[in-house]
Amino acid sequence: MASMGEGLAIVPTAPEAIRNRDSHYPYRFDSYFYYLTGFKEPESVLVLLGGAQPKTILFCRDKDMEREIWDGFRYGADAAKEQFGFDEAYSINQLDAVVLKLLANQPKLYFSLGENAIWDGRVTGWLNSLRNQARTGVSVPDDVRDIRKLVDEMRLYKSPFEQEIMRQSANIAASAHNRAIHFAKPNMMEYEVEAEFLHEFYRKGAQAPAYTSIVAGGANACTLHYNANNCVLKAGDLLLIDAGCELDGYASDITRTFPVNGKFIGAQKDVYELVLASQLAAIAKVNTSNHWNAPHEAALDVLIQGFIDLKLCKGSKESVLENGDYRQFYMHRTGHWLGLDVHDAGEYKYAKAKNQQDNWRALQPGMTLTVEPGCYIRPADNVPEAFWNIGIRIEDDVLVTQHGCEVLTSNAVKSIADIEALMQY
Ligand code: GLY
Ligand code: MN
Ligand code: MN
Repeated sequence: MASMGEGLAIVPTAPEAIRNRDSHYPYRFDSYFYYLTGFKEPESVLVLLGGAQPKTILFCRDKDMEREIWDGFRYGADAAKEQFGFDEAYSINQLDAVVLKLLANQPKLYFSLGENAIWDGRVTGWLNSLRNQARTGVSVPDDVRDIRKLVDEMRLYKSPFEQEIMRQSANIAASAHNRAIHFAKPNMMEYEVEAEFLHEFYRKGAQAPAYTSIVAGGANACTLHYNANNCVLKAGDLLLIDAGCELDGYASDITRTFPVNGKFIGAQKDVYELVLASQLAAIAKVNTSNHWNAPHEAALDVLIQGFIDLKLCKGSKESVLENGDYRQFYMHRTGHWLGLDVHDAGEYKYAKAKNQQDNWRALQPGMTLTVEPGCYIRPADNVPEAFWNIGIRIEDDVLVTQHGCEVLTSNAVKSIADIEALMQY
């Protein structure tokens, strides 16, 4: 509210989504609304009044014994105000009437324009209603801004409270990966392994997977967003699992790659060691002396040298970087912010930097990001056959600290020796 100045912010939560007929998808609140309220019920709206006398106002569903018998507990406005500490709370049925009063004569409106067409219509309807009252002396906000811009800056820096939830989310996902690695054997189906880590997510209290899980055996790992997860796992193939959970709204995001039969061999081993070396080099750059892109640059440096050494790329490190030949095997970036959303809020560059080439954000304590280099080798004439269909990614979640970084997902096995040992017994 301090960053808003004079004005009104309207932040609706996410709508419920129907799966088919009267069955819904599991409900997930809007991340901005949840960040500002901690309130998880659908059909809720937060209104923030900025200026000299700031105020937080919640609109939520009424208590309703009939609905509560069918669907479960609802706070209702009075209990929500009391327990969540809003200044005021009203029934969601009063939204039109109360918002019209609050919005009148405000200089600015903050809203996430374009996020949801129904809310866009409702908000422009309120503005038009006020315009219709112009002759009674009511003024209408003529400055409509995106509330997300302000909140993104806050979401980027995780508070100690958020860091602790992310630590727990990461720990659950790490033990889920260990469970899956230990369980996987030749001739299983990809989905059988998926069932193992999902079991661990739910058993440890996570509410959902944080995104669609990737369980990709052999060549499937070279499809970056593969998620059919329905193929048989063959001895001699690698298995790439990209899976994380959501705990109390916060995502973890881990990738591990390991041999289905428990032993890295030949080219698989060479490429795994290369990707691991690039990931460790990238993690070493996660500290407050560096900007956002430093880990990516470090990973690329190691990968490109490795591609040359393995004869996957030709030329010097500089020329392969310059001409982009490495993109045949490494076509994504090395990470993203992580938080309430798996690809979390926050700018990666400073908007107003003078030099557009070099305006990556400085890393600062409280930021959380993934570090996830990989290598994906599809069959091609310019590639020795021993490398065909190897797809490897190694992904950890990292918190920037005062003196370096904390790898939140360090409990998931990663070295060749640790993976092979876990698969032995
Ligand atoms: N699992 C999504 C990502 O790694 O970005
Ligand atoms: Mn990721
Ligand atoms: Mn991932």
